[in-house]
Amino acid sequence: MKRNRMALLALLPLVPAVVGFLSGPPGAAASSSGNRLRQSREAAFAGSRGCLGCHAGIEPIHASEAVQISCVQCHGGDASATVRAGAPPGSQGYEAALVAAHVQPRFPERWPRRPAAAAPGGTAGRVSSANPERSYTLLLAESPEFVRFVNPGDLRVAQETCGPCHQDEVNRVLKSPMTTSSIFFGAAGYANGVVGQKVSALGESYSREGRGQAIRPATPPTPEQLARGALPATVPLPRWEIVQPGEYFRAFERGGLLAPSSFPDLGNPNREDEAGQPDIRLSSRGRGTGLRISPALINLQKTRLNDPHLSLLGTNDHPGDYRSSGCTACHVVYANDRDPANAGPYAAFGHSGESATGDPTIPRGEPGHPLRHAFTRAIPTSQCMSCHMHQPNSFVNTYLGYTMWDYESDAALLWPKTQKYPTEAEKRASLDANPEGAAPCGRIRPSWAAWRT
Ligand code: HEC
Ligand code: HEC
Ligand code: HEC
Ligand code: HEC
Ligand code: HEC
Repeated sequence: MKRNRMALLALLPLVPAVVGFLSGPPGAAASSSGNRLRQSREAAFAGSRGCLGCHAGIEPIHASEAVQISCVQCHGGDASATVRAGAPPGSQGYEAALVAAHVQPRFPERWPRRPAAAAPGGTAGRVSSANPERSYTLLLAESPEFVRFVNPGDLRVAQETCGPCHQDEVNRVLKSPMTTSSIFFGAAGYANGVVGQKVSALGESYSREGRGQAIRPATPPTPEQLARGALPATVPLPRWEIVQPGEYFRAFERGGLLAPSSFPDLGNPNREDEAGQPDIRLSSRGRGTGLRISPALINLQKTRLNDPHLSLLGTNDHPGDYRSSGCTACHVVYANDRDPANAGPYAAFGHSGESATGDPTIPRGEPGHPLRHAFTRAIPTSQCMSCHMHQPNSFVNTYLGYTMWDYESDAALLWPKTQKYPTEAEKRASLDANPEGAAPCGRIRPSWAAWRT
């Protein structure tokens, strides 16, 4: 696959036209933009007052003086919660004000937390502001209010936060293949016999509450639009447990090592089999027997989690993978690449997803933060590559001059001199970070955290 920079950028405006439809979410309208744009600096400041007591020094996210929006209009939270002057971070007063001002998660135990000492009464630590590693679907389980607090550019809330002024972008991004993956789901689904038609009918999309939803055009596409590739509708991927294999020879079953003659049971794993090896064995039996599931479909589901698209956070576990979701995924830059050819002026900030903000509350030397609190139109290639270096998102690293590792000609770099026999725990750690089956035996360390130390 070869692409050059011009081709990649030139195609972008075409993407929405190709998919070409969307039923606007309830309340979608540009009519309120006038009021919000005319808000005075004083009014905007009032909605930020308590926040700035702690976040003094933070950059305005819109560089333009013309845009005056308060912190609360984007993030939510309570700007009337203020910290007493001089109360240091970690003190009871500071931490209590923080908790009162910030929207709290529905599942606090699932988000990374600071040590307990830094909390009111020394009970549970505050939620860390760093993007969590490999959060998979955690964001979808959270309340829209918390999602909005963490990232006002997330697609579940962008209608409320950006829509009043950028309605056109919100409509387009929601139906972009970078959100829906409809091209990839359609191609892989057809090629593996999951769906019987070439026109894609599958697409990833979530409601404000985080539930999978169909996308249907407000006005059905005309025959001319259909001929140009517009889709009549998309539906979410079905649950993998309920879909039978479309093709006899590609059915995976529970267990990996043993080949028992009996049918597998659901929820009754074979204790003799290798632990943690579900659903990977090829079946020898016919359609409609046993508990066989569609391997293609479970692989699409897993891909969606390993290579998350615009609705979800990036994996935030390696250089090159630090990013947020939604509009933020492109417009708020994270430090991902040290090569100026790929990252332009951002290369100077390294590749470890660390912050260089003027906001004193944000810890330094910690991965998972945007570089600064700033939107940009000057999006570096490295930001696009946080997705486009993976197969299902179109592997376009080639246009930076990279290609995939070769197991033989690059062997000296990939494999240790003596054969490695990883433990189950080492395998798990490695495969969590990199689903490539050969990786646990390779030289690359299982996690970037281990690599950094
Ligand atoms: C009492 C001090 C304090 C106040 C008041 C405060 N913050 Fe914060 N805020 C912090 C600190 C400290 C962090 C960093 C937390 C960490 O990573 O340990 C933070 C982090 C954040 C984050 C990052 C959250 C994430 O999970 O990514 C956002 C967004 C934020 N604050 C917005 C606000 C807004 C909006 C207000 C006003 C409504 C506000 N803050 C008021 C101290 C405060
Ligand atoms: C136009 C909407 C908007 C406004 C207004 C806004 N923010 Fe943000 N803020 C964002 C976005 C988008 C992000 C990036 C989230 C991400 O990377 O996940 C962000 C991130 C943050 C973070 C996390 C930074 C980090 O390094 O982890 C903090 C803290 C924060 N904002 C505080 C504030 C405060 C305080 C104000 C008011 C002075 C404010 N924001 C105003 C949209 C906004
Ligand atoms: C109150 C209206 C308003 C809201 C709400 C708003 N914006 Fe903007 N935004 C603007 C205006 C106006 C500009 C153009 C500023 C200029 O170029 O002078 C702009 C510019 C931008 C730019 C280009 C930045 C640049 O440096 O050229 C991006 C990206 C952007 N907005 C993203 C967002 C996102 C994402 C959200 C929601 C989280 C959002 N905006 C919310 C009014 C708004
Ligand atoms: C896949 C990456 C990507 C995503 C996601 C994305 N944008 Fe953009 N956006 C771009 C690019 C590229 C440009 C053009 C930059 C330039 O001027 O060269 C742009 C331009 C803009 C502009 C400036 C338009 C103008 O007329 O100059 C605004 C405003 C904007 N985007 C808002 C948003 C909002 C709001 C969202 C979320 C609903 C969003 N973008 C999501 C890549 C993205
Ligand atoms: C959140 C992940 C993500 C980010 C960030 C991202 N993309 Fe994409 N992009 C995708 C996915 C997913 C597809 C659809 C691939 C498919 O379905 O085959 C795609 C498709 C495209 C396509 C259409 C390719 C085709 O064959 O039709 C272009 C062009 C593109 N992206 C350019 C960009 C540019 C330029 C940027 C940076 C400004 C960017 N992307 C950032 C995930 C992303």
